[in-house]
Amino acid sequence: MKAKTVNILGIETSCDETAAAVVADGGIIKSSIVASQNKLHEKYGGVVPEIASRAHIEKIYPVIIEAMEQAEVTKESIDAIAVANQPGLSIALVVGVTAAKTLSFAWEKPLIAINHLHAHMQSAMLSEENLQLPALALIVSGGHTSLFDCQSPLELELLGSTIDDAAGEAFDKVATILKLPYPGGPSIEKAAKNGNPNAIYFPRSMLGPDSLDFSFSGVKTAVLYYCRGQDMKGEDKVDSMTRQEIADIAASFQAAVIDVLVKKTQRAADRIGAKAILLGGGVAANSALRNALEQLCNSTTPPRKLLAAPKQYCTDNAVMVASLAYHKFEAGIFADLTLEPKATG
Ligand code: KG4
Ligand code: ZN
Repeated sequence: MKAKTVNILGIETSCDETAAAVVADGGIIKSSIVASQNKLHEKYGGVVPEIASRAHIEKIYPVIIEAMEQAEVTKESIDAIAVANQPGLSIALVVGVTAAKTLSFAWEKPLIAINHLHAHMQSAMLSEENLQLPALALIVSGGHTSLFDCQSPLELELLGSTIDDAAGEAFDKVATILKLPYPGGPSIEKAAKNGNPNAIYFPRSMLGPDSLDFSFSGVKTAVLYYCRGQDMKGEDKVDSMTRQEIADIAASFQAAVIDVLVKKTQRAADRIGAKAILLGGGVAANSALRNALEQLCNSTTPPRKLLAAPKQYCTDNAVMVASLAYHKFEAGIFADLTLEPKATG
């Protein structure tokens, strides 16, 4: 006899998306609601924590209601409430954590704490039933660039991370330099499609032959100096550049970032003997990165399998939270009402 379906309500508020989702048995997506704050942060060229927090407070209730309605579930058929409680902006995380704790208490349902980065990794495994382990996970988002040794969805070891800007942050900052619309990642990708990735050589920081850490502030500064002169002592050339020149800079910058991501992924995958590579986080939506990693996977004998998160689940969402929570539910790993948000983790 098949065991009863486990319905989990997931909640995500770690940065600038207010999201809720209902996922059954870890992989059946019954609903996914994401209220994006892009419009609110656009004019600042980045996420303003206070604005993010206020918008989460306004949206959290309607987003949860909509997720429940779309999934056609009532509180009686929800088995647990899961929430991303780390890492992220504390004043944003606290909104989701408070909502989850309140529902857990009021509905008398278990509470599950989820690490946002681990959830991004889970989004790469959404449709995979026969995952070959160990896998190497590359998580590339606006706040993080991390490599994990994944022994199982709940057993992750951090192998390396960025020492300065995250990959997504570098995309966003370079888009601002090039005066492309916010959020920068998709704008750079769009511009890069018409550009020559070999037009300008931007630096690739490898941090030594053994390092699995990343650094993207150098490439960002190189683009800045290219556009504004060494040490920003020149005039801003962007306004007088042609679309082709902007496209060439975008393509050359994107190629430099992808080069480093691919080489470090290869280094880490070889080191742990990875059988598969998992790709998640907002920057994972980038087609050039997905193609480059696909090529990397096919270049080894035997080829490694690339599992990239579906594009709609690369950027922040609550499906990944509810999906990972299923593994914790099955393992009996629950949080209690003392759960707090944590900026790091
Ligand atoms: O995972 P995410 O939604 O939020 C964080 O956890 O930070 O990632 C957002 C980041 C932003 O920096 C955004 O510019 C970047 O992902 N991004 C992209 C693309 N789509 C989103 N970067 C490169 N290419 C894309 N297509
Ligand atoms: Zn994220």
